[in-house]
Amino acid sequence: MPPANPPSGPPSDPQPFSQPGPPPSPRPKVRRPISRRSALLLGGLGAAGTAAGGAGLWWTLASRPTSRTAPETGAELSQPSELRSAGGRLEVRLDAGPGQFQLAGRQARALGYNGGIPGPTLRLRPGDVLSVRLANSLDQPTNLHVHGLHVSPEGSGDNVFVMVNPGAAHDYEYRLPADHPPGVFWYHPHHHGMVADQIFAGLFGAIIVEDAEPVPVSTERVLVVSDTTLDGGGNVVRVSQMERMLGREGELVLVNGQSNPEFTAVPGTRERWRIINACVARYLSLRLDGQQLQLLGMDSGRYRTPSDVEELFLIPGNRADVLVTTAAGDSILRAAYYDRGSMAGMMGQGRGPGQTGRPDTAGTALATLRVAGSTEPSPSPSASPLPPLQLPLPGVPEPDDLRTAAVAARRQLTLSSGMGMGMGGGMMGFTINGREFNAARTDTTVTAGTVEEWTLTNPSPMDHPFHLHVWPMQVIEEGGQALPRPEWRDVVNIPAQGRVKVRVAFRDFAGRSVYHCHILDHEDLGMMGVIEVR
Ligand code: C2O
Ligand code: CU
Ligand code: CU
Repeated sequence: MPPANPPSGPPSDPQPFSQPGPPPSPRPKVRRPISRRSALLLGGLGAAGTAAGGAGLWWTLASRPTSRTAPETGAELSQPSELRSAGGRLEVRLDAGPGQFQLAGRQARALGYNGGIPGPTLRLRPGDVLSVRLANSLDQPTNLHVHGLHVSPEGSGDNVFVMVNPGAAHDYEYRLPADHPPGVFWYHPHHHGMVADQIFAGLFGAIIVEDAEPVPVSTERVLVVSDTTLDGGGNVVRVSQMERMLGREGELVLVNGQSNPEFTAVPGTRERWRIINACVARYLSLRLDGQQLQLLGMDSGRYRTPSDVEELFLIPGNRADVLVTTAAGDSILRAAYYDRGSMAGMMGQGRGPGQTGRPDTAGTALATLRVAGSTEPSPSPSASPLPPLQLPLPGVPEPDDLRTAAVAARRQLTLSSGMGMGMGGGMMGFTINGREFNAARTDTTVTAGTVEEWTLTNPSPMDHPFHLHVWPMQVIEEGGQALPRPEWRDVVNIPAQGRVKVRVAFRDFAGRSVYHCHILDHEDLGMMGVIEVR
């Protein structure tokens, strides 16, 4: 056990809403940070506002701010345990429960699946049946969602209307179609009102659907990025109502539960990284300077020819499947600051001048890759350089393209967060088309077998990441600009005061499911609607 308090890395920033960011980003639309000023503006509201949550949380609470323990950095990167399907099936028991976990190298009291944060990685193949017995050892309801999997939302499938009470269990069965796209997916709880708290406390895990033809790589790694905040006693903090409205950002940004872990490679090898943004609200603009990155896919979208990328922009819920070709040197996987807007406008302040100063640091270090050694003849096969990629990648089909499809219906969905919009008399409302979530109401009814075009608009002063379950979305137009190639996502950023057009093919599965903001605090506050395909 390390001694109690030697900060072996920089202490985390004590100001969650004024985090330093990177040097100027290549992204053109970097906006003003959620500033200390707006946090202060909102502080009064938070205090006057509702008694936060009322979710019956199990953890003990020290009042904030407390003396926080510095994260321990530089440990060897760990991988979640893996469970792999065989003979077309994977049967898993996932026990969601509280426990003692290592988070950022410290003892933390948090929540996990099967005693791990992240939970086990589930490896599947197209056509498989995944059976999960979810056992609820929490003291509050939960359930399970398989984010991004194209499976039925009905019955014991990916049904978010199921509630699993404390002490109870539920058997899920997910049947992947034979043509299910390969890629990176993930699982997490989806019980409305508690999703953000449960994910913030550690309930999430990776799902990988294997490729028809494996891409030759020396090493494959799963990097689940999450964030959380621990108090001085190692408890996950409970956040204020103001933080919920902004979308909470934890002070610790973790990869597989670790703070800036390290790992090594030799030059000239190719690795495959599966990166998941499991943060409740934090946008990740990732760079790995010094190494070559190629993007194989985002969410369930695949590219036949991976493109070189310098930055990976992952909004909450997104996943990236990337190849890293190593070059000698130390490289830090960094999350640059991304400004997703503020609620100052919601307070009648507008976006206003000021706060234009450049963020003054290089962003948050998520992990450190040390590339050293020789690529000359080596006894270890993992140390020999791989042959060049065969392009286009064998076994990757041409992506589906709905740009020329017949559109059966056009809809407008407006994501609003603002003063006086709350249906329940709250000061802030988080709505889609003016309504807060109601599980008993169906907001959108779609005819099975058709393609629809949805225009997603966001008149609010902060970005909202829009997520649709079951049916992936092809992004057609962003800010009035048509996209030049098919881009498939299951979470799409709708920038503040912005608009995005997507098309969705409701071809195979019918049933009721949801769409929502993947700032999970916003989802819990009501920014979710029900879709029924029939
Ligand atoms: Cu990742 Cu409805 O969620
Ligand atoms: Cu989802
Ligand atoms: Cu939102």
